[in-house]
Amino acid sequence: MNAFFSTIVPTIATAPPPAPRELTGGFWLPQASSVNAENIDATFYFITYLGYFFFALIVALMVIFVVKYRQRGREIHAEGPTHHTALEVTWTIIPLLLSILLFYFGFKGFLSASTPPLNSYQIDVTAQQWSWSFKYPNGVVSDDLIVPADKPVKLVMRSEDVLHSLFVPDFRVKKDVVPGRYTTLWFNAPEPTGMDARKAHHLFCTEYCGKDHSNMNRKVYVLNQAEFDEWAEYQRTADQRSPVDERYFRVAPKLYKRCISCHTLDGTPSTGPSWGAHDGLPAIWERTEKGLTKFGDGTTLKDYIGPGKEYETPEAYISDSILNPGKHLVAPFGNAMPTFKGQISDVGIQALIDFMKRLDEFDAKGNYLKPIPPLPQQTADPKKTANAAK
Ligand code: CUA
Repeated sequence: MNAFFSTIVPTIATAPPPAPRELTGGFWLPQASSVNAENIDATFYFITYLGYFFFALIVALMVIFVVKYRQRGREIHAEGPTHHTALEVTWTIIPLLLSILLFYFGFKGFLSASTPPLNSYQIDVTAQQWSWSFKYPNGVVSDDLIVPADKPVKLVMRSEDVLHSLFVPDFRVKKDVVPGRYTTLWFNAPEPTGMDARKAHHLFCTEYCGKDHSNMNRKVYVLNQAEFDEWAEYQRTADQRSPVDERYFRVAPKLYKRCISCHTLDGTPSTGPSWGAHDGLPAIWERTEKGLTKFGDGTTLKDYIGPGKEYETPEAYISDSILNPGKHLVAPFGNAMPTFKGQISDVGIQALIDFMKRLDEFDAKGNYLKPIPPLPQQTADPKKTANAAK
């Protein structure tokens, strides 16, 4: 129960907002899993129960009057009081006070939602058709949102293309992501979920942003501080730690999650060219190597690859297509792909190219078909080893 509400308005203390840390939803609202939810839920229930109350009151009076003043016989009494000052003042003042009260709670909640605490942990969010990228202070980028528990988290959000909107119902936060502008929201989720997809919170894009809008559904994982630090550090070093010849199955499938909404692996038509064989063309690596890809302007890739031409190697063409996707548009596709400049490292691009070369080792969703062996241990810090030897 919200202490603030029950002291100011004792009468609404009967409305049952869910215990904020309880991990089950109520009839009207999903589980409340952030400290932000408390005030929002209390306001929501206040308005809801106010609605119930007046609905019952008005319908009850209506029924009573209908019965009591129904026409009996033929006689009609048209005269009655034309106005009643006391009654009219009452039914003006009470709703006015209620409206002021609602405004007060609404405005207070709005201010709190718009001002992230100063010590917030910042995550930079980029929305694009049709994926999210969450970038952490140490440079790690993820496509699901991972946050530390019991700590204010501030999302600074921007869009690469059209309007999107980030919504986490369990946290009661939602904000548009607008091209050409930064928007922020914040929350504090006290309960860790671990890396358990069943406990994780849903994250939606809630602004219709085109054909694959629904592919922007993601998860929010809440980790306790120690786990979170470990996760962030592990991610930061994972790409470098994996042996070069294993990056195509360790690094690339994670990156491919951001490509899958437009580029399928099995030839199924989508927003961009499938990486699998389709329309008489072989799979992506073979058709790139042989220069078979046809462009909208009538040229083929053969015209661009080779010594002295735009691309020395097929790899250079693929890398350029990721960083400058609008340069050569594959027929019959439009210029729909955003640039991944600054969002994918050279290690990442190389991993994706190796992934394209060995698509037969993955299923249609980009999952490696063989079991992935554990990563080799991090090589010991030579300084530490030297100290230990002394
Ligand atoms: Cu992004 Cu809908």
